Amino acid sequence: MTEHEASVDASVISDDPDWWRQAAVYQIYPRSFADSDGDGIGDLRGITSRVPYLRELGVDAVWLSPFYPSALADGGYDVDDYRDVDPRLGTLDDFDEMVAALHRAGIRIITDIVPNHSSNRHEWFREALAAGPGSPERDRYVFRDGHGPHLDQPPSDWESMFGGSAWEPTDDGQFYLHLFAPEQPDFNWHHPDVRADFLKTLRFWSDRGVDGFRVDVAHALAKDLSHPLPTHAELEATRLVTDGSHPLWDREELDEIYAEWRAVFNEYDPPRIAVAEAWVAPSRRHRYAAETSLGQAFNFDLLRDDFDAGDFRRTIADNLVFARESGSSNTWVFSNHDVVRHATRYGLPDDQGQDGAVGRAWVLSGGQTPPLDRDRGVRRARAATLLMLALPGCAYLYQGEELGLHEVAEIPDDARQDPTFFRSPGVDRGRDGCRVPLPWVADAPAFGFGPADASYLPQPEWFREHAVDVEASDPDSTLSLYRRALALRRELQAAETLTWAEHGDDPEVLAFDRPGGWRVVTNFRPRPVPMPAGDVLVASGPLDEASDSPGARELPGETTVWLRVAPSVD
Ligand code: NOJ
Repeated sequence: MTEHEASVDASVISDDPDWWRQAAVYQIYPRSFADSDGDGIGDLRGITSRVPYLRELGVDAVWLSPFYPSALADGGYDVDDYRDVDPRLGTLDDFDEMVAALHRAGIRIITDIVPNHSSNRHEWFREALAAGPGSPERDRYVFRDGHGPHLDQPPSDWESMFGGSAWEPTDDGQFYLHLFAPEQPDFNWHHPDVRADFLKTLRFWSDRGVDGFRVDVAHALAKDLSHPLPTHAELEATRLVTDGSHPLWDREELDEIYAEWRAVFNEYDPPRIAVAEAWVAPSRRHRYAAETSLGQAFNFDLLRDDFDAGDFRRTIADNLVFARESGSSNTWVFSNHDVVRHATRYGLPDDQGQDGAVGRAWVLSGGQTPPLDRDRGVRRARAATLLMLALPGCAYLYQGEELGLHEVAEIPDDARQDPTFFRSPGVDRGRDGCRVPLPWVADAPAFGFGPADASYLPQPEWFREHAVDVEASDPDSTLSLYRRALALRRELQAAETLTWAEHGDDPEVLAFDRPGGWRVVTNFRPRPVPMPAGDVLVASGPLDEASDSPGARELPGETTVWLRVAPSVD
């Protein structure tokens, strides 16, 4: 144990090494959670002040998006210094206090680690620019000479994920690679300094009591940049190959990198955990989720499904198999800081495409077209979430979804922050709409986000009705639903198995059992169906008596129930 570790407050956290397998993890976007000092930006002390809220919500862990020093070219995913706290968000002492408060409340903490790229203000990148072409300093990143007759053309036609060229020129005729914004130069993971420095960072935060790491673009670190470089079209056409041969994504060399990380995680008791953000073919996810690697990987399949019984069933069944194959547990997620909130996605017309396309189109239109049915969106989001919270595995929740928040489309252009907006002027309105600071108190400036009159991203007036104080006093609110479900979930997650059940032969009703006499039923139809047998423990919406036959109960449309039934004899 290091000296620092010894000083971290004694916690009530158990030392169960498997705590992560079925945890409910709540994602905090620190700048938008709670502001303690009145600068309109959320901070670490703000998080500490809301630990009682997190405890009452009933989550097992929080995952913090980056809080490191950063110019915020990409909301903090452009890191200047991996082993410090952004002064606008606090200090390392504030961090320690926050960890201690979380642990005292029985809540673990996962921090975001961003290994594919640093910011262009990172010490190493500044040294690389100053040292010039051919220097060892440049070798920690990916610099190449210009091409073309005047050597002023980028080395390839690659486009960055945020639009525009993936190569940025320097003043001395070279270009550097950035898969994301130009302020996010990609590291060269063949360089021993890069590898050693990240091991140091993992130990730094683990020693401070961090329980695990969310690994940003985990599938991008290893790259094959040997010549000739393929074209952008060739890269795109082979993006999801499953043999590790893509020059940029999901290469075999990653195994070796993450084996080194695993050795560091296992230096701790209990071992630190990690979850990979890896947008790879589902059949490759097990590589990241293996216990010799990061141990867990996000499954974004449900997030991409429409609200459809068949899609949900297929996704769940496939992922149960993937989890078995990797030995890891399932991960489920509907919303995060990168996607249109699921209450909004589900409130848009069904027939306009999957994969979030319809949500993006709505944001793009400033919330005008296609029309959003707000109530339906929330009804379906509640049903989907209650279903998801009953699945075996780990549930990742995103701040504000417990309030039934919709995406905010009406952010003025001059207030927007997200590089995806600036890199594609007017075309992609970006991800700010799910990052608007939370409403805590209906009748307070900035809805209680902090002492200031306003927050750094403007909150819409309709946030008032979703404020925590309003929802906490309403037994039918989305917040009350999450609290009830998360409390019951602890009991329900005793084992990791699921058995499909039938509800008549209705393909639009999904039903499954969990060990111990739990039955979960979701009616995906807009119309009611007969209520399944069993005692209702929690329902995602009001359960009305059927109007035409007194006494007969129905399961309303787009609603999930958890029922207590006689345990099956297995
Ligand atoms: C994934 C993160 O979730 C996203 O917010 C970020 O922009 C990119 N990685 C680049 O770091």
